[in-house]
Amino acid sequence: MADLDDRRIVLGVTGGVAAYKAAELTRLLVKAGAAVDVVMTEAAGHFVAPTTFQALSGRPVASGLWDSGPRGMAHIDLSRGADAVLVAPATADFIAKLAHGFADDLLSTLCLARDCPLLVAPAMNRQMWENPATRRNAAQLGADGIVILGPASGEQACGEVGEGRMLEAAELCEELVAFLQPRILAGRRVLLTAGPTFEALDPVRGITNSSSGRMGFALARACREAGAVVTLVAGPVALPTPRGVVRKDVVSALDMRREVMAAVDGHDIFIGVAAVADYRPVESRPHKIKKGSGNMTLELAANPDILAEVAARPVRPFCVGFAAESQNLDEYAQGKRQAKRLPLVVGNLVQHGLGGETNQVCLYDDHGVHPVPPGDKLSVARAIVTHIAGMLS
Ligand code: PMT
Repeated sequence: MADLDDRRIVLGVTGGVAAYKAAELTRLLVKAGAAVDVVMTEAAGHFVAPTTFQALSGRPVASGLWDSGPRGMAHIDLSRGADAVLVAPATADFIAKLAHGFADDLLSTLCLARDCPLLVAPAMNRQMWENPATRRNAAQLGADGIVILGPASGEQACGEVGEGRMLEAAELCEELVAFLQPRILAGRRVLLTAGPTFEALDPVRGITNSSSGRMGFALARACREAGAVVTLVAGPVALPTPRGVVRKDVVSALDMRREVMAAVDGHDIFIGVAAVADYRPVESRPHKIKKGSGNMTLELAANPDILAEVAARPVRPFCVGFAAESQNLDEYAQGKRQAKRLPLVVGNLVQHGLGGETNQVCLYDDHGVHPVPPGDKLSVARAIVTHIAGMLS
């Protein structure tokens, strides 16, 4: 099932250069399963032709207040039954209109008449965004319950650099998907570990494993979508940080332990997804080890068990462990749960190694084993979050 299956989104496009990004946004929303009704202001038509949006959405594009819907009331008909209205880009002028409740074109009238959430993605020159009038208007939108996405900072179409760029289409799509998820972890603070650790032997070599970090990053995203405040302690991986998540990068198990222990106070939930190296070289050489003539023996020291240490604290968060096993999943996963006195362990069979795009897991708690339908790591992560929220409620 795609993220926006069975959803209908009204995408409002106003007259800014970033209107070109709205075309890509339309494509991404449709790809995610949404039915997308594009509503353009007259000014938007100076930047992108309606035909582009019609071709990408596969649906008629509306723009004039006097365009007739089935009942001659396009502003009502378009917004009824929509899951959300997203205005991207939203110009300073359009934000001002929304703040003051003007309704002099189809899009502003529709926003006023809507009975569903409204999200806006501002896009304008940095001085316009910083102008006290715009700040006042944006604050008013926030007070009215309108969600403001961005803007981002960076190079602008006018050549200036600063805050005011519209978020990228993929970021807006991710934000909308997140917005539509149930807020089952609202008010909770979640700390996670993800990825492998790297235990250095010398400046160029070390002991690690093939964890990609995908499962932990997907869980961080799913927790944030569910309304939690999320901190992610990540071993060395090449993954973008999920939006809205605070990320702390570490290398070794000792680094990971230090970051977790420094952050854990005040967290309601701790999820250990990382494949932490059980051992590290007793000595990490300052210079590259030279090849000798015979075999070489490495002496390894046991690493601290971060999850066990968190779970043993007198005041502990709700602790979730992971178990990656190539055989006897039930036995080993339950064994880890009991050894560390964890309310929940997520067991995954990893007969073909770590690092894939999909996962198949079972959840182990006091009530037994709960298989999760296999799927991409984000859908598995959402199922885990639902289970955690259920256990906490
Ligand atoms: O990153 P991906 O490629 O997406 O792969 C995801 C994963 C397979 C790595 C993940 O789903 C997973 O199963 N992670 C746990 C791997 C494992 O079996 O770890 P373990 O048996 O060594 O540890 C059990 C639990 O204790 C884990 O929650 C682990 O994070 C934690 N632990 C282990 C050792 C240690 N020193 N400190 C820990 O906190």
